[in-house]
Order: sequence, then C-alpha cells, then structure tokens
Amino acid sequence: MDKLIIHGGKRLKGEVAISGAKNAALPIMAASLLSSGYSTISRVPDLRDIMTMGRLFANLGAGFHYEDSKAVINTEKIKVYEAPYDLVRKMRASILVLGPLLSRYGRAKVSLPGGCAIGARPINFHLNGLEKMGADIKLESGYVIAKAKRLRGASLYFDIPTVTGTENLMMAASLAKGITLLENAAREPEVTDLANALISMGAKIKGAGESVIEIEGVDELKPADYTIIPDRIEAGTFMTIAGITGGDIILKGCRQKHLDASIMKLKEAGLSFENVPDGLRVTGPGRPAASDIKTQPYPGFPTDMQAQFMSLMCIADGTSIIKETIFENRFMHVAELKRMGADITVEGGVSTVRGISKLKGAPLMATDLRASASLIVAALAAKGETVIHRIYHLDRGYENMEGKLSKIGADVKRAKEDQ
Ligand code: EPU
Repeated sequence: MDKLIIHGGKRLKGEVAISGAKNAALPIMAASLLSSGYSTISRVPDLRDIMTMGRLFANLGAGFHYEDSKAVINTEKIKVYEAPYDLVRKMRASILVLGPLLSRYGRAKVSLPGGCAIGARPINFHLNGLEKMGADIKLESGYVIAKAKRLRGASLYFDIPTVTGTENLMMAASLAKGITLLENAAREPEVTDLANALISMGAKIKGAGESVIEIEGVDELKPADYTIIPDRIEAGTFMTIAGITGGDIILKGCRQKHLDASIMKLKEAGLSFENVPDGLRVTGPGRPAASDIKTQPYPGFPTDMQAQFMSLMCIADGTSIIKETIFENRFMHVAELKRMGADITVEGGVSTVRGISKLKGAPLMATDLRASASLIVAALAAKGETVIHRIYHLDRGYENMEGKLSKIGADVKRAKEDQ
C-alpha cells in the first residue's frame, strides 16, 4: 500500500493537462455492452476504477484492452451476465452494467452494493425503474437478480435526481420497446456525455442535460467510437490547489461551463480566472476569503468538490458554512483536517469552518476519494511535512496526481507504507 509525503508551502505554477472524466468513462464503457463488436473509447483516464471495470468486462467474457488513454472493448462473446460481489465492493459504479445487460441479454445478476464511506447509497430508484419497464427483480443472497423478455418504455420519476440511476435507466431504455420518459433526471455533464455516446451508437435520446429525458428504444445499437469529456472534478480540485497555494495554474482542456457553480464560489473566495487558448488560467489570492457553499445536484455546487473547497476555507479570512445535502456522511475529511489545526465544527450536514492563518503538516488517513483529494489540497499549503496514508482511494479517481503536482512545483512523493 502507498502513502504520499508532501512538504507544503510552495506557490504552484505551470500547466496541468486535465484527464478524461472517470464518471463519464465508466457509464460509457458500460454502454458498450448494448452493442456487439469493438467499441473504442478515447480519453479514458488510467485509474483503478477503470481497471476494475475492465476486470468486470473480462469476467463477462468481453475483451478489454487499455493503452494510451484508449479502451477497446469487444462485446462479441459475452457469456456471463454477472457482476460479482468481489468487484462491486471495490467499485459501486459496477451497478452500471445492470441496465445494459438486462436490456440486451434479458438477464443480469449484480451484487447489491452496500453502504460506503460517504453514505448508505441505496439503488432503489434503479430497481424501481427497471421493474416499471417490465423487469422481474429479486434480491437473493446479496444479489440483484433481474430478468426481462424485452424491456418496454415507461414514464419514470426520480424522487431525487440520481446520476447513475439516470444513466442505468437511459441505457436500459435505449434498447427497450417504446418510449421512456425520465423525469427529475440528473443533469450532470457526465449524464449528457453518456447520452451523446449512446446517440453516436444509434440511440434516440432527447433532453439529456435537462430534467426530462425522452428515450425512444431502438432494436439495435452499433459499437461506440467516442471521446470522453474532461474531468470537471479533477479540474475543480486543481482550482482549489491554485487557491490554497496562491498559485498560477493553467488547466489545459478544462471545460469551464461544466464548473460554473464551483468557479462562482471560488471567485467569491478571491480566485481569478482567465480564458487562455485550450484552457483556463486560475490564480490564487494572497489569502482566500470565506465563502459559504451548499452541495446540490448539477448545476448546483457539486458534492464531489465539497471536501476540497473545505480545505481552502480552512485558511480563509473569516467563517464559512458548508452544507452537504447529497450524502449523509461526507465529512470524513473533517477529523483529518482538524489534525492539521483546522477549526471546524460539524452539526448534522453542516460544517462551520473558522479560517486560521496556517495549517500544520501531520500524519493523515484518506477515507474516500474526494476526502483524499482534500487532504492533498490542505497539505500543499501546510507548514512542514504531511503524510497521507491509504492513498489507494486517490488512485481510484485521479490520474497521475503526484506527477501533475510535481510538474507545477509541488514537493510530493509516493512511498510504500513500510518505508
Ligand atoms: N439515491 C437514492 N436511491 C437511489 C439512488 C440514489 O436514495 O436509487 C440517493 C443517494 O443516496 C444520494 C442521492 O440520491 O443521496 C444522489 O446520489 P446519486 O445516485 O446521484 O449518486 P451516484 O450515482 O451513486 C454519482 C457519482 C458520485 C457523485 C454522485 C453525486 C459516479 C460513478 N458516481 O454517484 O461520484 O458523488 O453521483 O454527484 O458517477 C466520486 O466520483 O467521488 C463520486 C462519489
């Protein structure tokens, strides 16, 4: 197991190339199961979650080859319709194969993802939707066992907009008979990217990116040849890094419109933004100003940026109120930030962060993906040495983080736990 060792306090300056979006790549890889043949997906980040998905494909009997940010998936010889517990427990997004397998092969057996570090995260909306489309669904020994002759279109309403729920049902509906309406659908750019990939495969989808999506099922889809959007959360994380280090970072390939809410809030905190050819230049202030945030479904402030924004607020001039409304347990980073001297109190889903002038390095434990990122953000501005243990969480979702940080002047190195 690896750890990261960071000596903070450097002003980071230079260019960072933003990788493809993990949360778009995973559903688009799953969408390849809706067709037969070779799908080529480009700008796929080199991440542990992508490799877990690759293993899941191998398990289904699909070919999976990954090289130079390109994933080639051959779905001609699918012979197993199961996502086993061992893979699903490593990556909840494995649930994304449920809709495609059921819709194309009429059956699927997928381990029920349990709760995780950030919350209970049920999948009832996925299952209710598939049932309304005619699937027979049973829960047996921790598995979802789903069968259907051919799914049929249905009008579905989500009580809460769910990202992977919208994606699973959009994929299932693409091969269903008739029209499916998804109301109160998630509007995240990753959902739109999946819709665009499906449309390029021959699907008939209208309204992705809006809260009502209409899908007219077709009989057949062709394999995908598609390039994933840049990762808005990676870009947002580097924005907070520019903010906390008083840095000057050019984010190459970043799509500003996917980050409107984060950019507005970071501007309130004193960061400056300037469009440059093929990217966005972000400059940090001397000391950030306090700013309040409330996480919300897109286009609101993303829950996946909450922890990193909190790190920035730890050294802000003033008090910041941070409300987490998406996941009930997404403040695991607070206890670690406090070990660095941060002054934070949590009550329910609300954190009050009273800015201090300087954080101090400490040994820390990463608890989930975005919490790991937030600890890196904090460590880059802290005085002295920070050691972040259990960095494998980071490797699930950030491509070559320490390489990208070193390139812009950070003092960061990876070591084995026993070193
Ligand atoms: N929910 C239900 N029932 C469901 C589905 C969702 O109650 O059937 C609730 C959840 O418990 C949560 C809310 O609805 O309170 C929204 O959850 P959502 O389903 O949108 O989350 P997700 O699809 O499981 C994706 C991302 C997460 C990201 C969230 C929110 C992927 C693979 N994962 O999760 O990404 O935080 O949307 O934007 O796309 C990450 O990358 O670090 C990460 C956790």
